[in-house]
Amino acid sequence: MAKPKVVVWRPMYDQIGHKLLEEAGADLVVVDTTDAQAVMAELPDAKAIWVRTPERITADMMDAAPELVVISTSGFGTDNVDIPAATERGILVVNNIGFGRKPVSEHTVMLLLAVMNRLTWGDRSTRDASGWSARTNVSFRELEGSMVGIVGLGYIGSELARKLHHGFRCTVLGYDPHVNPRIPLAAGARTVDRLDDLLKQVSVLCICAELNDETRNMISERELALLPKGSVVVNTARGQIVDLDALSDALGSGHVFGAGIDTTYPEPLPSSHPIFAQENVIFTPHTAGLTSETATEQTRFSVSQIMDVVSGRAPTFPVNPDAWDGKASRQPK
Ligand SMILES: NC(=O)c1ccc[n+]([C@@H]2O[C@H](COP(=O)([O-])OP(=O)(O)OC[C@H]3O[C@@H](n4cnc5c(N)ncnc54)[C@H](O)[C@@H]3O)[C@@H](O)[C@H]2O)c1
Repeated sequence: MAKPKVVVWRPMYDQIGHKLLEEAGADLVVVDTTDAQAVMAELPDAKAIWVRTPERITADMMDAAPELVVISTSGFGTDNVDIPAATERGILVVNNIGFGRKPVSEHTVMLLLAVMNRLTWGDRSTRDASGWSARTNVSFRELEGSMVGIVGLGYIGSELARKLHHGFRCTVLGYDPHVNPRIPLAAGARTVDRLDDLLKQVSVLCICAELNDETRNMISERELALLPKGSVVVNTARGQIVDLDALSDALGSGHVFGAGIDTTYPEPLPSSHPIFAQENVIFTPHTAGLTSETATEQTRFSVSQIMDVVSGRAPTFPVNPDAWDGKASRQPK
């Protein structure tokens, strides 16, 4: 039997994945370009494609791939694949769920501590020696014992709750209208039914929710105003959940003490954005999930999920299971 052709669009985060695909019996083609036409040229006989953001799989590309059985995203997000078009053509889309739990919860704690202790100021002002005269006039904050609010208590939010409750003796309030109550309970978080109730009580706000119609722009001027003066805000989820203009104003007025931002909308944020002029903000370029340990785990998982699907086995995380139920199903028999 011919080896199933697997196209990898841009190298996998951990290139051990390429070796694993070959060892698992794939005919591997890695296309390291942003040019969709070059990828399309490889698709007529491809059974699988792995795609990494920001590259997008469109309906046109699917039409160039009559034998395609599965599209695998590189991580959790599926916004770079036309899911309805895939379902219509009987192509299964799979993603990788839960891999942010360790790295993103750690990164969030790091941003909290860095902002509360003004880490980037400390580094800069030690190098130019200005910090020695200024340091007693600068305010630093402790995380231990803080009242923390976490919006979204999934893999990342609940792990963050666990770390902050057990590691830093924080009181953790959570808001997540869809979570099974056993999850926050096990993590040591108390849940509230209304976001406003959480915002009024916490001095640290962490955003860990998925992006959807409910969470888009969820933290804007009104919500920031509900936070007590001097609060800290960290967003490691998705940029569109927090209105950065409003956050910039709240930082400028001193209502918000500082912020840690891993995700913005758009990415990258234009350099003219007013938030770059705010002093106590620490940015990272959407790197919270990019540890080498997680890249390896996630890559191994992607490989096994792709090989499952091309062999006709149901994957762990199908995004559009209907694709295999309909008349157009391409499930290998
Ligand atoms: N910065 C990074 O590198 C990085 C890496 C991985 C994931 N992420 C992002 O982190 C976020 C959490 O990821 P996860 O793996 O924990 O996902 P998850 O699906 O386990 O958790 C998301 C949670 O958001 C909740 N939610 C949905 N609507 C909500 C609402 N209206 N209010 C409050 N909560 C709501 C869901 O119920 C769910 O519990 C996602 O936005 C994901 O895209 C970022």
